[in-house]
Amino acid sequence: MSTEKTFAIIKPDAVKAGKAGQILARIEAAGFTVRGMRLTHLSKREAEGFYAVHRERPFFGELTTFMSSGPCVVMCLEAPDAIRKWRDTMGPTDPAKAAPGTLRRDFGTSIGNNATHGSDAPETAAFELSYFFRGMEL
Ligand code: RTP
Ligand code: MG
Repeated sequence: MSTEKTFAIIKPDAVKAGKAGQILARIEAAGFTVRGMRLTHLSKREAEGFYAVHRERPFFGELTTFMSSGPCVVMCLEAPDAIRKWRDTMGPTDPAKAAPGTLRRDFGTSIGNNATHGSDAPETAAFELSYFFRGMEL
């Protein structure tokens, strides 16, 4: 499997709870190389742009209010099969359905406050990486 880049966020709930360091240690232990990383506080508008694919969903307002509620850590992670590997490392959207040892099970508290984000396909990874990083930075 060739090396691939994906986009990841340590969401505001996890940063606020002081878990960013522990999550970063788990990312490194899982074998990802961090190619880009920044602390940022999204505006409501920036969160709406990022999650534009979900704009018709009933949870869109709640999601974008949460994502703009405090600072988050945005990252470019590299590994063989990085997109799938990062989704597996996080676990499913709902922490209650996630297996022990996954990030969302260990650090998430609800389906909305689920600690981390990960791109779900090559096209979304390309869009999401370009939303936060200039090509030169990666
Ligand atoms: P993400 O995009 O954040 O990595 O999460 P995901 O692919 O596992 O889930 P997705 O369907 O893309 O949903 C994006 C985020 O919206 C929130 N959500 N809330 N209240 C709800 O029913 C609900 N469903 C989704 C979650 O924070 C989810 O991560
Ligand atoms: Mg998603």
